[in-house]
Amino acid sequence: MTQSLVIRRPDDWHLHLRDGAMLDAVLPETARHFGRAIIMPNLVPPVVTGDQAAAYRDRILAALPEGMAFEPLMTLYLTESTDPADVAAAHASGLIKAVKLYPAGATTNSSSGVSHFDKVRPVLEKMAEIGLPLCVHGEVTDADIDIFDREAVFIDRVLDPIRKSTPGLRVVMEHITTANGVDYVKSNETDLGATITTHHLIINRNHILVGGIKPHYYCLPVAKREEHRLALVTAATSGDARFFLGTDSAPHTDANKEMACGCAGCFTATNTMSLLAEVFERADALDNLEGFASRNGPGFYRLPVNEDTITLTKGDAVTYPSKIDTDDGPVTVFDAGFPLHWRVD
Ligand code: DOR
Ligand code: ZN
Repeated sequence: MTQSLVIRRPDDWHLHLRDGAMLDAVLPETARHFGRAIIMPNLVPPVVTGDQAAAYRDRILAALPEGMAFEPLMTLYLTESTDPADVAAAHASGLIKAVKLYPAGATTNSSSGVSHFDKVRPVLEKMAEIGLPLCVHGEVTDADIDIFDREAVFIDRVLDPIRKSTPGLRVVMEHITTANGVDYVKSNETDLGATITTHHLIINRNHILVGGIKPHYYCLPVAKREEHRLALVTAATSGDARFFLGTDSAPHTDANKEMACGCAGCFTATNTMSLLAEVFERADALDNLEGFASRNGPGFYRLPVNEDTITLTKGDAVTYPSKIDTDDGPVTVFDAGFPLHWRVD
């Protein structure tokens, strides 16, 4: 018997589209299945002003192939010199849907991020006042904190103090990777949500390191122990509206991944919905896939759910290209290491 599942068109609440040739190549991969995406601002140089976000939005729309519909939801990259008035104006005009906080040095192109959290206080207060969400890369960068502990320490030392001192600030903990992140979200009734990536639902740290180093499984925050992956699967598949899909699909060319100091990022735009269907089916939670991928995100961002639908159909193994071509070089598509059976129409 053919099994199929019709869900509202999903959105991606955390996506890297890059610019130029890479943008041209990866945008259709997302637009094929997703209606909207929160667009990360960590370009070189970063998208820090409303004018820059408007120009980036125009470049994204210009790169969209004829006949494809997709709405980029723009963000600003928070720096210690971000002007609260510029943020408020970009929000009031409808241009931006969030501001992104990168602790300086935490990840790809984060050197312009925040080192002294007191310096961004006026921006955070303005955001709390106008209801504009803050998307947080939740890792401390202190050299003496083990990389596998950086998310848990960030919650205690940075995130909780910021939230307590800025009542009303709406926060999305991006790409949570630990049971600590899940528990922190669940212990807060309001103003806090979390995105979970596709790849963190599938891999743990063994997948990166056992049997040889696998650069295409390396991302930040780095995948943790199996018990943490299981906590993420439980949260994502539970139906709890505070958890929603943000793929963090982050394309880098193979040349930049497969090197002595390879870039962080998994590219999942192409096959995410098939991967998620497999994960939710294994958790006996296919009924909650629509919530996670299509309803909870708009709920948090106070946007309508997409009007149209996609259909997932279970059948023989579905294959996706192992790489996509870009004018900058090939980009490897995330390989779950198990067969996929859910096709997307
Ligand atoms: O793995 C990652 N890649 N994590 C991030 O936070 C940034 C992203 C990128 O831009 O490549
Ligand atoms: Zn990201």
